[in-house]
Amino acid sequence: MTTARAYPNIALVKYWGKADEDLILPAAGSLSMTLDDYSTTTTVTLVDGEDEFRLNDVEQLGRSADRVTTFLELVRSYARVVGLDTAHYSARVVSVNEGPTAAGMASSASGFAALAVAASAAYGLRMDTRELSRLARRGSGSASRSLIDRFAVWYPGDDESSYAEQIEAPDMAMVSVPVATGKKAVSSRSGMVATQTTSPFYHAWVSSTAVTLRDMIGACAAGDFTRIGELSENHAIRMHAVIAASQPSIRYLTPASIAIFDEIAAMRADGIEAYATADAGPNVFAVTLPELAESVADRLRPLATGETKILRPGPGARLIGDDE
Ligand code: DP6
Repeated sequence: MTTARAYPNIALVKYWGKADEDLILPAAGSLSMTLDDYSTTTTVTLVDGEDEFRLNDVEQLGRSADRVTTFLELVRSYARVVGLDTAHYSARVVSVNEGPTAAGMASSASGFAALAVAASAAYGLRMDTRELSRLARRGSGSASRSLIDRFAVWYPGDDESSYAEQIEAPDMAMVSVPVATGKKAVSSRSGMVATQTTSPFYHAWVSSTAVTLRDMIGACAAGDFTRIGELSENHAIRMHAVIAASQPSIRYLTPASIAIFDEIAAMRADGIEAYATADAGPNVFAVTLPELAESVADRLRPLATGETKILRPGPGARLIGDDE
């Protein structure tokens, strides 16, 4: 029985589109901050019989259970290659998601990062962080980045070369501003396919993301928070634009999300450095400096429908002991 804990990550340069659907290879690189809240804690026990997956005390069936079983099959295939007889066993996977599931806070990233660490250890595989990042990628692309402490860059490439690794960046904070309506959004998985196949801006999105990533890596190396913020807000807006241009259109941002983007722009006009970003859903994150985070949270709280939290760079996925 092994237990691992992982945290979600929020991308400053977003991943949206795949070069390979099966291997989950991204069309372009991305860069993210691992959070220090909304963790997923996952325990894997080898069992006879069938794979089982419980999430927050509820037995999972259907698509989410299938994704876990497919992932476990991959782990077992690795175990077979190195001759481990654990490969004969199925697995019971028990996960607890701390984040409000309704708020849809990147739970597949923390989920598959925790599962990669817990399942590989349960089956007796010895994998380093790079191998674990590649493995987590096969569950959900953004999970590759949740293996990494603080800030991660995930490289495009082939199965061998597409992994995430740590990058130095200036200290910062994010403020979560949940506005989820509870309405079911299009999943990232299918939204990406729709964008790739129907959005006329898709190729420009991919080629411009490579340029943004280069600029972002430069801004991180220079410790230039203003540039990081500007690049990340603009890149988020571009992602939502390329998605909205799909036919039929897909819109993840709601009027409430747009109001938060506007309020963050108004804060900047008042001299408070904050920048907006949002993933494939209506919830917004403000990217800001640690010393400004409280005042940014105070100003955004009236626009949130759930709890506004200040998030800081957090740890990569790892095994934990029984008492943690
Ligand atoms: C908008 O990693 O959830 O959060 O690889 O299909 O599982 P799959 O997609 P996923 O997509 C995340 C998309 C995003 C941007 C990002 O995190 O970079």
